[in-house]
Amino acid sequence: MNSTRGPLWSNPEQPEPPRPGHGMVLPIASEIDVYGATRYTRHLALNLGFNEADQVRIETVILELGRNIVQHAGHGEIVIRVVSRQDRLGLQVRALDRGPGIPDIELALQDGYSTSGSLGMGLGATRRLMDEFSIESGAGRGTSVTATKWVPERRPDAGRE
Ligand SMILES: Nc1ncnc2c1ncn2[C@@H]1O[C@H](COP(=O)(O)OP(=O)(O)OP(=O)(O)O)[C@@H](O)[C@H]1O
Ligand SMILES: [Mg+2]
Repeated sequence: MNSTRGPLWSNPEQPEPPRPGHGMVLPIASEIDVYGATRYTRHLALNLGFNEADQVRIETVILELGRNIVQHAGHGEIVIRVVSRQDRLGLQVRALDRGPGIPDIELALQDGYSTSGSLGMGLGATRRLMDEFSIESGAGRGTSVTATKWVPERRPDAGRE
């Protein structure tokens, strides 16, 4: 999938900060697609100014949501967008599929609950790792997870950490 390669802006030597609206729709049908999405998002998160810890958090979320699409729904898409609110930039991740859906969302969010004999940590971890999290689903309705992380505001004494 060519669309996951490379930066979104013209000069990779002098990357501009990505602007609201930047992003990409990443079709997900296999684990390889999930890794492609992770790579693309890592690049974007770095250029948005997220620190390394947040970059890893965001990558983990892409992995978990992408794996959920592949394992539980078969295929779907991850939509990445740069968003803004009151001059603050953020990264929004949406994972969408038309799979079987989740009949009991509260249960699915609990750590340790899994219908696939796995750890059952993915959704709970996603909620903890991001600033905002919402999920829409239901039996037979597919699943839509939206999670956003905001770039921390720079403090005047930044750079001393
Ligand atoms: N996209 C989805 N479509 C249908 N069901 C889903 C989807 N995502 C999650 N689920 C349901 O929610 C449960 C919990 O998901 P979660 O990601 O927390 O755990 P898991 O995928 O089972 O295990 P882990 O992510 O730890 O490997 C899943 O077992 C599955 O039943
Ligand atoms: Mg999972």
